[in-house]
Amino acid sequence: MEKKDDQFEEFFKTLPQKHACGSLFAQYKGFWFDGAFLHGVITFYNHFEAHNSDIILATIPKAGTTWLKALTFSIVNRKKYSIPDSPLLFNNPHLLVPFLEASLYNKGKVPNVKSIPSPRIFATHIPLQCLPNTILGNSSCRIIYLCRNPLDLFTSSIHFLIQNGLFPQEPESMDGAFESFCEGIFQYGPFWDHMLGYWEASIKDSNKVLFLKYEDLKRDINSFVKKIAEFMGYGFSQLEEDEGMVEQVAKLCSLETLKYLDCNNKGGSSHSVIKVAFRSFFRKGKVGDWANFLTPTMAKRLEDLMKEKFKDTGLTLTIHD
Ligand code: A3P
Repeated sequence: MEKKDDQFEEFFKTLPQKHACGSLFAQYKGFWFDGAFLHGVITFYNHFEAHNSDIILATIPKAGTTWLKALTFSIVNRKKYSIPDSPLLFNNPHLLVPFLEASLYNKGKVPNVKSIPSPRIFATHIPLQCLPNTILGNSSCRIIYLCRNPLDLFTSSIHFLIQNGLFPQEPESMDGAFESFCEGIFQYGPFWDHMLGYWEASIKDSNKVLFLKYEDLKRDINSFVKKIAEFMGYGFSQLEEDEGMVEQVAKLCSLETLKYLDCNNKGGSSHSVIKVAFRSFFRKGKVGDWANFLTPTMAKRLEDLMKEKFKDTGLTLTIHD
C-alpha cells in the first residue's frame, strides 16, 4: 500500500481519530498514533527490508530509548572506537542510532539504508503487532525491547512534552492527558498492548526478542551490558571483562555522563517529525519519580490497570526504587 502525501491524507481521514494531549491521534491496527508519525509508520512498513544482522531497538516513548541507543552503539563499536574517542562523547545518541518511522521514513521518505554497514542498529516505537514481516518472520534480525513501568512512563512523557512546549497550557490538560493514557489513547498506546506484544514474542523466541526492563537496568547495569552484548552476538571476552570494559561502557552511557557532556546533548535539537531539544531526553532517570508527580488516586489507578492488563501474563513491573 504505497501512500503519497495526498493519498496518505485521504487514508488518514478514514481512521478513527481522537484529540489527546494537544495532538490528533489516529487508530491504526489497534494502536493510537500521532497523525504526524503515522505516515512514517506506513512507509517504513512498505519499504523496509531487514538484514539478518540488523538490531532493532524497540520502546514505547520515554522507556529509556536514549539509554538503549547509547548502550548498543557503544557495545557494538567498542573495538572501532576507544572510550575516550567514542562518538557518544560528541553526538547525541539519537544522531548515532536513527529512528525508523520518526526519522528515516518520516513523512513518506524512502531512504537508502542498504549501504549502512552491518550491523545496522535502528530504533522504533512501533508496536510489534504493526512491524513488517521482514523483521518478524523473514529475517533473523534481532529485537531488543526496553520496557518501563507506566507510572514513570507517564510522568516522564508529560515532563518531556512540557519541556518542548508541546503540552497544552490549560489547567485541565493534566487530567485529560492522564485519562487518555489510561484509555490507551497516547503515543503508540495502549501501553499494555505495546508491552505485551513484545513480552509474548520474547517468551515465544528469546533468541529473537530480548525483553528488558528499565528498572532492572537501573539496579544492575553491568550485568545487563553483558546480557545485551551477548544477545547481539558481541559478548565481552574474559580479557575485556578483566580490564573493566563492561563498567567503562556502562559509565559512558550513564545519564550522569551523557547529560552533562558539552556537546549537542545540551544545546542541539532533533528536527525529525517534531522539533525537540536533545537535552529534554535527559532528566532524572529515577525509578519511582512518579511519586513526586502523580496523586495517590492516579497512582492507584495505574497500578490497578497494570494488575488487570498483565494478569496471567507473567509480566511484572517494579514501580519503586
Ligand atoms: P525521566 O524523565 O524519568 O528522567 P526516552 O529516551 O525513551 O525518551 O526516555 C527518556 C527517559 O530516560 C527520561 O526519564 C530520561 O531521564 C531517561 N534517560 C535518558 N538517558 C538515560 C541514561 N543514560 N540512563 C538512564 N536513564 C536515562
